[in-house]
Amino acid sequence: MKKIVINGGKPLSGTIGISGAKNSAVAIIPASILCDENVKVYNVPNISDRDALIDILNLLNCETMVKDDMLSIDTSNVINKKIPLELSKKMRASYYFMGALLSKFKHVEMFFPGGCNIGKRPIDIHIKGFEALGAKVTINGDLYTIDAEELVGTKITLDFASVGATINIMLAAVKAKGKTIIKNAAREAEIVNIATYLNNMGARITGAGTSEIHIEGVDYLHKAMIEVIPDRIEASTYIILGAMIGDNLKIDNIIPDHINALLSKLDDMNIKYELNENNIIISKCENIKPTNIKTAVFPGFPTDIAQPMMVLLTQANGVSMYEETIWESRMGHVKYLNKLGANIKNGNTNAVVIGSTPLHGCEVEATDLRGGAAMVLAGLIADGTTKIISIEHILRGYDNIIEKLKNVGADIDLIEE
Ligand code: EPU
Repeated sequence: MKKIVINGGKPLSGTIGISGAKNSAVAIIPASILCDENVKVYNVPNISDRDALIDILNLLNCETMVKDDMLSIDTSNVINKKIPLELSKKMRASYYFMGALLSKFKHVEMFFPGGCNIGKRPIDIHIKGFEALGAKVTINGDLYTIDAEELVGTKITLDFASVGATINIMLAAVKAKGKTIIKNAAREAEIVNIATYLNNMGARITGAGTSEIHIEGVDYLHKAMIEVIPDRIEASTYIILGAMIGDNLKIDNIIPDHINALLSKLDDMNIKYELNENNIIISKCENIKPTNIKTAVFPGFPTDIAQPMMVLLTQANGVSMYEETIWESRMGHVKYLNKLGANIKNGNTNAVVIGSTPLHGCEVEATDLRGGAAMVLAGLIADGTTKIISIEHILRGYDNIIEKLKNVGADIDLIEE
């Protein structure tokens, strides 16, 4: 079994370079099959979700090549195939093949996707969008069969500004007849990146990044390139770490506008940093003030950094309130933070964090991707040795996390036991 072992308490200095955004790359890769020629994607993070999506591309007869952070995909011989259970279930983002295959072949057969266990995660809003475009969706247990004679643009108002549904409907609509308007669309930075990619192929999408997206259908999508934007969640994770144990730790290759919600909370907490055009330099703060965190859709406080943020709250002097509004069960990490010495009382979606508490190394579990990142941060600030199990969750979403942390002075290793 793979484990991460950390001997905590070492100050971290030097530079951590941020990789391409996981949640952008995992949509850009499936979107590539819409192209009728070939594509090159740059700044792709080296994470296991990337590899699982490449396995699906290969199943669909695409030729793929990874060179450093570049992924080239030749889609000229792409075929339609049922995506088997084990590939569908490997991650959440496999569901972007629903929109992409529907658009390309008007027929999809695949299973309900996998991903972190942080809530029920229904896909009803995606399905409603496909149906509004003219598709017929048949659900048999976990098997989804989606067919359409033709897809016709229409106005779709999302029940909730879902990231996945916005992207999936964009993919399905890009070659539909006429105009599609998505109202109450999600506004996350990743959506802009994917719309830019599709437009680079010849799609006609406007309004991405606002809550109303307009898509004028086109017949043909040609060869294109795209660079994946820097991962705002990875950047935020390391910035939080810097505030607890950094010694002029530089987090490089960031887009400051994408992390405003975090920076504003750091300001509330008395945490100082030097923000530059594409990097931030941050050191340990000796007098962290408590604050309240309530997660929200973009540009609110991102749910995906709330778990790492809770580690910082354990180091604040006083009581912080924490409320998760996107996912109904994203508190798995609390049990293990308490095991490390934190004082957190929680319900399913709320918590009260009483700080500050020193943390002491012990064996903990990565209950999900961001909960796992929280364990890494906690282990790095704890005294003694922390062992983390179930680390496959972490490796799904953090590019080279061990090497990046070792390079700035952390005593961290991946071991096989
Ligand atoms: N929802 C529905 N029906 C739907 C779709 C969503 O009820 O058809 C609900 C969800 O159950 C959830 C809320 O709407 O309560 C938000 O879901 P959304 O669709 O926005 O999330 P997602 O697309 O499944 C992406 C990221 C998540 C991130 C959320 C919110 C990917 C692959 N995943 O998920 O990332 O938390 O947006 O920002 O892009 C992570 O990176 O750790 C992660 C979980």
